[in-house]
Amino acid sequence: MSASTNLVWHRSEVTKEARQKRNNHRSAVIWFTGLSGSGKSTVSVALEKQLHELGVHTYRLDGDNVRHGLNKNLGFSPEDRTENIRRIGEVANLMVDAGLVTLTAFISPYREDRDNVRALLDDKEFIEVYVKCGLEACEARDPKGLYQKARAGEIKGFTGIDAPYETPVNPEIIIDTEQQTLEQSTQIIKNYLQEHGYI
Ligand code: PPS
Repeated sequence: MSASTNLVWHRSEVTKEARQKRNNHRSAVIWFTGLSGSGKSTVSVALEKQLHELGVHTYRLDGDNVRHGLNKNLGFSPEDRTENIRRIGEVANLMVDAGLVTLTAFISPYREDRDNVRALLDDKEFIEVYVKCGLEACEARDPKGLYQKARAGEIKGFTGIDAPYETPVNPEIIIDTEQQTLEQSTQIIKNYLQEHGYI
């Protein structure tokens, strides 16, 4: 399949800025990254609910969900993970254009892939949240029983076991789900959004 050529970008008359003004808040991606079982989904679900109750227009994209639809043709090879994150980045970019505070919960193990999404967005529209939790604790939680399967050799290329996770170097926010409660984690992110004028 070859890439399309002869394309002309059509500008809308309703701009991102106009949408943000009407929503009464800025739009951005809150990009959660971390090991399987670190708490990305749990924290992003709770945060989205709290933001929604504050009147913020939100949408959440989650690994398992997106892999049922948009990315159902992708597996977990390094190339497929890169393509997974590239597509999510493009979708998140559209959602930011639509004026939404978009929450994404993907392992997104490669630094370069995350940085490519950052580069796609305008400055300040990408808020990287490192969901810090050691492998030992994630493995002890093992909410889906996947670490056990990976240790038994039933899943190959599992992040943290026999596939890499590249820790963020300079994330906007770090939450430590071994030390902080869910309430504390969501509060840290809400404080950041308020202090930086997003909401
Ligand atoms: S990635 O690396 O960003 O493309 O992964 P993501 O789209 O977030 O999907 C991660 C969820 O898929 C399940 N799963 C695996 N994870 C890691 N490695 C392997 N090999 C794998 N196979 C299946 C797992 O349930 C992940 O969910 P979370 O919510 O992270 O635990």
